[in-house]
Amino acid sequence: MTAERWKGEAAERALSYVKDGMKLGLGTGSTAAQFVTMLAARVKEEGLKVLCVPTSEATRALAEQHGLTLTTLDEIPFLDLTVDGADEIDDELRLIKGAGGALLREKIVATASDRMIVIADHTKQVDTLGAAPLPIEVVPFGLRATEKMIEMLAEDSGCAGELKLRRAGDGQPFRTDGGNYIFDGAFSKIDDPEGLSDALHLVPGVVEHGLFLWVADLAVIGGPAGVQVLEADYGE
Ligand code: A5P
Repeated sequence: MTAERWKGEAAERALSYVKDGMKLGLGTGSTAAQFVTMLAARVKEEGLKVLCVPTSEATRALAEQHGLTLTTLDEIPFLDLTVDGADEIDDELRLIKGAGGALLREKIVATASDRMIVIADHTKQVDTLGAAPLPIEVVPFGLRATEKMIEMLAEDSGCAGELKLRRAGDGQPFRTDGGNYIFDGAFSKIDDPEGLSDALHLVPGVVEHGLFLWVADLAVIGGPAGVQVLEADYGE
């Protein structure tokens, strides 16, 4: 079975958490895209009523193409549920996100939601975060100063590694939906995600980073042994 199939199985299971009348955040990436397509089919077939906020222009286009009803966080500042993919998931449901470049809107939408369900295939599960590059969204102004400060503060929090400015296909710096740039941090291993997160937030040029800590409530993971559902334990 392929990863795409496992992603689809996770997306399908996540659909069972969607109830009529819900306000939903729609994630970005290939797994979230499968969820959007399945959600739209349920809306058409069963007359399910949901109001959706997309986390990227790409997801907006996909959702519109499938006829989902879209709104914004300005219209509805609180959502019931966001379903989104991830690049890495550890056993405390801490995530790395942003390989698709949508981390800022993804974090805003997930944080505005009562619950966040992360959907993925089992290859995204890790013991320690950091094998995947950590996307860090930065403003273009003062880029080199921001880069140096990120390097220094990341190293102080135990994360040394190269920062690579993400580039688009034409060789120009990749621009997020918000017009910002992204550094991908090759840290290999992030032993203290909370410490690194706090350090990155000290850099004025950093808009946001791809560590999603204490955001996901549930992980729905597709794999060879079927779909596994993991619940976060935040001691609530
Ligand atoms: C988008 O910016 C990312 O956060 C995605 O959610 C993440 O990269 C997962 O993507 P796939 O579902 O395509 O693996």
